[in-house]
Amino acid sequence: MNSSTNKPRYLWPDYARQFEDRGVAAAYRHRHPYPDEVLDFLSTLAAQRNLVLDLGCGTGDLARPLATRFRAVAALDPSAAMIEVGQSLPGGTREGLQWICATAEDCRFPEHCDLATAGESLHWMDWEQVLPKVGQSLTAEGMLAILTRRIGPTAWQAAEHEIIRHFSTNRDYAPFNMLEELHKRGLFRQISRRKLGPTPVRQSVDDYIERRHSQNGFARETMGAAAAEHDEALRNLLRPHADEGMLELDLFVTVVWGRPAAEARSDVKD
Ligand SMILES: C[S@@+](CC[C@H](N)C(=O)[O-])C[C@H]1O[C@@H](n2cnc3c(N)ncnc32)[C@H](O)[C@@H]1O
Repeated sequence: MNSSTNKPRYLWPDYARQFEDRGVAAAYRHRHPYPDEVLDFLSTLAAQRNLVLDLGCGTGDLARPLATRFRAVAALDPSAAMIEVGQSLPGGTREGLQWICATAEDCRFPEHCDLATAGESLHWMDWEQVLPKVGQSLTAEGMLAILTRRIGPTAWQAAEHEIIRHFSTNRDYAPFNMLEELHKRGLFRQISRRKLGPTPVRQSVDDYIERRHSQNGFARETMGAAAAEHDEALRNLLRPHADEGMLELDLFVTVVWGRPAAEARSDVKD
């Protein structure tokens, strides 16, 4: 933890800026879409289906399908590259979907949001600034839903973690529980959580490897020549587990929902 940013080094904005690389944005389509079950569940968290605020929307994996379930979605992200890819994907130009290119810290959020969502993105933000702003933008019943996607246990996961550890350009990674931290700082009051899945997913070995390059620490632009070495190591690991080049995977999505603090908490420090 650092006193100037008040969050672990591996989550600082210089690392977050890897999402501005065109290669990361291009590889993002190899992440698995959120299953309908998850999107339908998110809709049940809102008392009205008027407006969703999607924080750190990326290519719109949440925002685009949520725009079919809500009257309007305000989808914000500082990466022009991610937004550009999102606009080219199915549902990317749907009426009611507004893309906003800005950080959550700088953006003026819309009022009266029925739901706010943060899919694999809240950890990149300045929580002390952003969570009170989200609290103020929500209606009295409005919830913030925080989502994470995970591939279920695989036979190769321990060896894959070694490859990740070896090749990641984010050398500052350390295990960290963001939700505990938000609770401790009085910034988020969790109401409940649900783990949805498993959803069976088939993915080619090539696409599985390419998906890695959409993750922080694995931008091809930053890895340079090590990217090819990484790909070869992962391909060699996966080959025995593939059937005609295809992997069978289980996708799980965890949704944690609750209420963000509506006011800045300058009194709470770690
Ligand atoms: C892993 S992607 C998640 C994208 C999408 N929500 C999803 O579930 O697929 C994380 C996103 O957070 C964005 N991000 C990073 N820092 C941010 C900030 N300060 N404010 C808003 N978004 C930010 C990145 O640009 C990136 O697109």
